[in-house]
Amino acid sequence: MFSLEGKVAVVTGGAGGIGLATVQRFRAAGAHVVMSDLGDHHAKADEVGAVFHACDVSNEAQVAALMHRALDEFGVLDIAVNNAGIVITGETILDASDETYRKQFDINLMSQVYGMREAAKRMKQGASIINTASLAANRVASGAGAYAAMKAATVSITRSGALELGPKGIRVNAISPSTTQTAMGWLNKYNTLASPMGRIAQPEEMAAVIHFLASDDASWVNGQTIAVDGGQMAGIPPEISQIVNESE
Ligand SMILES: NC(=O)c1ccc[n+]([C@@H]2O[C@H](COP(=O)([O-])OP(=O)(O)OC[C@H]3O[C@@H](n4cnc5c(N)ncnc54)[C@H](O)[C@@H]3O)[C@@H](O)[C@H]2O)c1
Repeated sequence: MFSLEGKVAVVTGGAGGIGLATVQRFRAAGAHVVMSDLGDHHAKADEVGAVFHACDVSNEAQVAALMHRALDEFGVLDIAVNNAGIVITGETILDASDETYRKQFDINLMSQVYGMREAAKRMKQGASIINTASLAANRVASGAGAYAAMKAATVSITRSGALELGPKGIRVNAISPSTTQTAMGWLNKYNTLASPMGRIAQPEEMAAVIHFLASDDASWVNGQTIAVDGGQMAGIPPEISQIVNESE
């Protein structure tokens, strides 16, 4: 069950956070993995038994070379996880610069378009693509509008990918994480209060769902964005209700 034995995967943003947890999980499930990120992470890749390939995901030629590396190393490409991303916060609709939008458009959205396109060209029937969206696609924090807009677009482009690549036997799905303890995700009072579980997520909890979507056990799951949020989108947790009630 959920075996990835002999499958070949590419994971972007693989040197840290959710990406690294995914690389480790895929290796444990039997997959060969090309771990990709900015910079040089050969040593880290060696540690987890992956192949490292440096790539800036906002550059299509580099993404094409990355997906091709899987073929060069292992002869096939079965799984692509378009996970790398950045967040810029503290800029509202009134003051966010065009640069803030353009940078996140390139790194958070075009990266996933390139990832889907360049992976799909090299994939066969039975392959799986997983994009990392965000809870921010549905519940926006003020000051992070550009990030949220790109993540909402990820949800949409994931659906398009599923429709257009489905006939080739390639599934496309996404996960939508709530705040996760990584270099990007931060712990604050709101993030724990907003969660019915009273804590933020661990990257391994995201990797577990990515693993399911990558596996043949998810063969009938296509075009979905799975909220991995500890129930945050279900509504307002009791502790917040209590604070509001007590303040009245
Ligand atoms: N941590 C959270 O709270 C959270 C919540 C929702 C969604 N996400 C999403 O999860 C994904 C992974 O984030 P994370 O939390 O693991 O953060 P992270 O910062 O630990 O990892 C992101 C990785 O992407 C890499 N990266 C950044 N720009 C890149 C580029 N141009 N080319 C290639 N790699 C690049 C970074 O070097 C880093 O290793 C992102 O898409 C993020 O938006 C994170």
